[in-house]
Amino acid sequence: MNAPNANLRGLDLRAEIDRLRKERNAVILAHYYQEPQIQDLADFVGDSLDLSRKAAATNAEVIAFCGVRFMAETAKILSPDKIVVLPDMAAGCSLEDSCPPDQFKAFREAHPDHIALTYINCSTEVKALSDIIVTSSSAENILAQIPADQKIIFGPDKNLGGYLKRKTGRDMLLWPGVCIVHEAFSETELLKLRAQHPGAPVLAHPECPPHILDHADQVGSTKAILDYALASESEVIIVATEPHIIHQMEKAAPHKTFIGAPGADGNCNCNMCPYMALNTMEKLYLALRDLAPRVEIDEELRVAAKRSLDRMLEMAGGTVGKGDVGRPIFSGS
Ligand code: 13P
Ligand code: SF4
Repeated sequence: MNAPNANLRGLDLRAEIDRLRKERNAVILAHYYQEPQIQDLADFVGDSLDLSRKAAATNAEVIAFCGVRFMAETAKILSPDKIVVLPDMAAGCSLEDSCPPDQFKAFREAHPDHIALTYINCSTEVKALSDIIVTSSSAENILAQIPADQKIIFGPDKNLGGYLKRKTGRDMLLWPGVCIVHEAFSETELLKLRAQHPGAPVLAHPECPPHILDHADQVGSTKAILDYALASESEVIIVATEPHIIHQMEKAAPHKTFIGAPGADGNCNCNMCPYMALNTMEKLYLALRDLAPRVEIDEELRVAAKRSLDRMLEMAGGTVGKGDVGRPIFSGS
């Protein structure tokens, strides 16, 4: 594993990264929760669905993924012939951690008449145990395509699952996982902030718990929140998701004021994703220089996980995943 070192002092990291990306024929994909410098140099910044589509469609030989591990693994599952590097392999996700594959397998076996509709924030093993993967931007659309009498397990995010249940009226068995970042918003502090800025819309990610979503004017994926913020006529907007997305909002609408929803201490530092923060410019440079650390996945596991991801790409529309999506999962389909 590469570690940042003192020899990098004085190096123009931005210029070196640009040089290496050309030399390596690399594409740099970044999530909206990455630090501003990384977002600004990335070839593409997006939400989980768009990043998956980009990873499946790229012609680059190397994908440098600036996000968390499950996102980089998704890129490798969809593009196995590419070298996929993640600047820091320790960039995990609390939702992934909350869903150990052996326990998920047992849960599935206990409910053999249910299909598993699974949030992309999970391990490759859990993807392999699932029928269809969803992201926050594709979940509702995909759920609407599943026959009404089909029983469903939804995991690992109970907040996204609960939101979908309330929004669609669809009953689902929920896995009890949460995102530690979105759990940290304080309803009391949010209400105080709203009182200070009457009329400012609250935009929230569906990973937030219901007591936060209840106050939201718009609930959606990072991309949907960004689009809403830019289209809104309001000059002040309250953002209840990881605050690094505000960088894109401020770039596109510098005349507006975007305020991160607060945590219990009244500021939003507790809402920074600690896993996303592990990726730095230094580590990205080293990853491109050394082509490490690399994401590697056992081929049998990869093929099994790809089926549920391909179903997502097909059902969500847009770029279709390549290959056999396996047996039909709904009776009559
Ligand atoms: P999006 O797909 O909305 O970008 O969400 C990813 C994520 O991890 C949110 O915490
Ligand atoms: Fe995982 Fe939450 Fe970080 Fe998103 S914000 S990567 S769900 S820990």
